[in-house]
Amino acid sequence: MKVVAFNGSPRKGGNTEQCLDVIGEELKNEGIELEIVQVGSEAIRGCIACYNCLETGSGYCILKDQVNEWIDKMTAADGIILASPVYYGGIAGTMKCFLDRAFLAAGSKLHHKVGASITTLRRSGGLETFQQLNAYLNTMEMVLATSDYWGAVHGLDKGECKLDTEGMEVMAKLGRNIAWILKVIENSKGKIEMPETKPRTMTNFIR
Ligand SMILES: Cc1cc2nc3c(=O)[nH]c(=O)nc-3n(C[C@H](O)[C@H](O)[C@H](O)COP(=O)(O)O)c2cc1C
Repeated sequence: MKVVAFNGSPRKGGNTEQCLDVIGEELKNEGIELEIVQVGSEAIRGCIACYNCLETGSGYCILKDQVNEWIDKMTAADGIILASPVYYGGIAGTMKCFLDRAFLAAGSKLHHKVGASITTLRRSGGLETFQQLNAYLNTMEMVLATSDYWGAVHGLDKGECKLDTEGMEVMAKLGRNIAWILKVIENSKGKIEMPETKPRTMTNFIR
């Protein structure tokens, strides 16, 4: 089984990557591979609201950059982790550009996968950013993996996250829980059917 993590930090080896490494170690112990995609260092523009993805049902974004390749990585994976440093109380900009486009375009391709979110921050905005990341997963009928506290780890300079002992424990527990849920789903195959996906009636609050 495989998990793909999207790291919204532009910093190679930064706190977000180090947190993902802790999760990856736990997954590895259970025979599960983790691939980390560094989104934050790429040039990804935001959604242009053309709605081509929805109108055609293509499952892809019309803009030409790495987003479609990353949609394919998500589709192929059993689990997806969304990870971002906190920038001004929210998801780092490049990561938000990617998530808006990928989750609008991907549609039901991500349904029933295991999902989890984590954030890193110096001081404030961790819970808000964690909830923003979870908002994407919550549109995809995903199975959310959690830890015993919110996925926000403190640190400013690279590696300072390691000083957040509780945060590191939260990451390790999250890794173990992701592995456990993945195995539960894997072992249910052929025994328990996935729920049927039905189209949504979009009312747009128009009366
Ligand atoms: C543009 C920018 C904005 C930031 N805004 C916040 C913030 O609102 N709250 C906070 O606690 N830390 C903030 N930080 C600090 C980062 O979230 C923190 O250093 C994080 O650990 C960086 O993760 P990385 O090492 O993976 O890049 C900001 C950093 C930058 C560069």
